Amino acid sequence: MVSPTSFRSLAVRLRVQIQGPPPRTHTCLTTSLSSLRPSSHHSRILPTPPPSTSSSVRSTRHFSNTTDKMSSSFLDSIKSRRTIYQLTGESTIPDSRIKEIVQQAVLHVPSSFNSQSTRCVVLLGEEHKKLWGDIVKPAVKAVAPAEAWPASEQRLSGFQAGYGTVLFYEEPKVVAGLQEKLPLYAEKFPQWSEHTNAMHQFAIWTALEQEGLGANLQHYNPLIDEKISATWNVPATWSLKAQLVFGKPAGSPMEKSFGPIEERVFVHGGKN
Ligand SMILES: Cc1cc2nc3c(=O)[nH]c(=O)nc-3n(C[C@H](O)[C@H](O)[C@H](O)COP(=O)(O)O)c2cc1C
Repeated sequence: MVSPTSFRSLAVRLRVQIQGPPPRTHTCLTTSLSSLRPSSHHSRILPTPPPSTSSSVRSTRHFSNTTDKMSSSFLDSIKSRRTIYQLTGESTIPDSRIKEIVQQAVLHVPSSFNSQSTRCVVLLGEEHKKLWGDIVKPAVKAVAPAEAWPASEQRLSGFQAGYGTVLFYEEPKVVAGLQEKLPLYAEKFPQWSEHTNAMHQFAIWTALEQEGLGANLQHYNPLIDEKISATWNVPATWSLKAQLVFGKPAGSPMEKSFGPIEERVFVHGGKN
């Protein structure tokens, strides 16, 4: 637990939680290394490890000749994912569907060397309320200046009012295993682990919103890690990265501005 004296540095990291939303102008099982298969960009540089000996499921890709439509509906899903803070304690879909979405994302979102280092814990209904009411609130109150607490409490009550939270973790043992097996990339693996975790966050956030739910992404780690581990039997070694709060939307997303796209995307070559 962080002592009150280190609140300032913590507050910098937790600025969002303590001071409110950021400015809107900027515009889950241990994997054995034998099951890791390199992607082509890795194998260009590295000797190709032996094929997987595990009984992992091989999936076949099915392509459609209506790719334009498919691609634009995928982009539409990306566009319609937004941050929604006003949530109710209801869900637009059954719990089984929520579980299925998280499982499908965890199965199919890519990871470096197919390392599958991401773990998700889903808290629904009363367990979600316990997280925000009994764990996050006391943890933040313990480090927040007295004058900042009322606003923080109000914000946390907003999260508590939702229906569920997905906790996103990384399993450091997987990262350490990769570092040992492939020392050439040792310093890259922690970063790639963060990348895959973020991809999971994005995929699940987008998928839940496609089901009519609203969601927002929070970062109260590491303040809350120990209590969560003790309450839901989460291995203490897992590293908590983010909390995705969701529920039936009771408000609209805030207005969003976009920086000039021509300063952010550059294309060279090609025909048209
Ligand atoms: C990596 C990342 C971290 C974020 N952290 C927080 C956070 O801690 N608290 C919060 O309220 N929103 C957080 N957000 C949400 C962003 O502020 C939000 O996505 C952004 O302003 C764009 O708005 P939109 O989600 O409605 O498109 C985060 C988003 C990303 C991608």
